[in-house]
Amino acid sequence: MDSVLTADLTGGQRAAVRRLLDVAFDGEFSDEDWEHSLGGVHFMVIEEGVPVAHASVVQRRFLHDGRSLRCGYVEAVAVHPERQRRGLGAAVMSRAERVIDGGYQLGALSASGAGRALYLARGWTPWQGATAVLAPEGVVRTEEDDDSTFVREVPGGVPLRHTATLICDWRDGDVW
Ligand SMILES: CC(C)(COP(=O)(O)OP(=O)(O)OC[C@H]1O[C@@H](n2cnc3c(N)ncnc32)[C@H](O)[C@@H]1OP(=O)(O)O)[C@@H](O)C(=O)NCCC(=O)NCCS
Repeated sequence: MDSVLTADLTGGQRAAVRRLLDVAFDGEFSDEDWEHSLGGVHFMVIEEGVPVAHASVVQRRFLHDGRSLRCGYVEAVAVHPERQRRGLGAAVMSRAERVIDGGYQLGALSASGAGRALYLARGWTPWQGATAVLAPEGVVRTEEDDDSTFVREVPGGVPLRHTATLICDWRDGDVW
């Protein structure tokens, strides 16, 4: 398992990870999705010099219960279609969770249909309350993201009020 800061990825590694994401998401991984996955740490399983599994963790700020929380947000979780159901998704998630547990007040992610089973199996919790974003014009509800938002409570971290609103910071593209 390789663990590499975005700053330390070579141009070739960046291109190879992007290719993996394009294949795993069947062409649905946008440039904005890619941008969201940069700036933190990447976990990769490399086979024969090629990344076949990837996840990254980036820092975001979340508003919850009147507090601004340091959130480790998981992005770009993908396993090459020919390598799925062999534990590689679990392997990169396990490393991401270690970084979240040691460095953040909570973890969060937005699950695809395919990702849901992986996150549920690993003890991530579907958010039960409302979701929203702190947009340039103020707090805006994001109803369409309520069902896909998952959180991870960090041992010894901030207790979450699961029926309250979770507000993410603003970004271009999908905010969750
Ligand atoms: C989601 C994804 C990363 C899972 O990777 P993976 O390597 O196949 O997952 P693992 O083999 O580590 O699975 C670990 C556990 O998660 C659950 N799980 C993972 N994929 C599952 C699926 N398709 N159906 C049911 N359970 C699944 C199972 O409990 C599995 O354990 P098991 O195989 O012993 O039953 C992979 O399917 C993928 O890349 N999908 C396309 C891109 C995508 O949607 N990524 C998620 C973005 S949020």
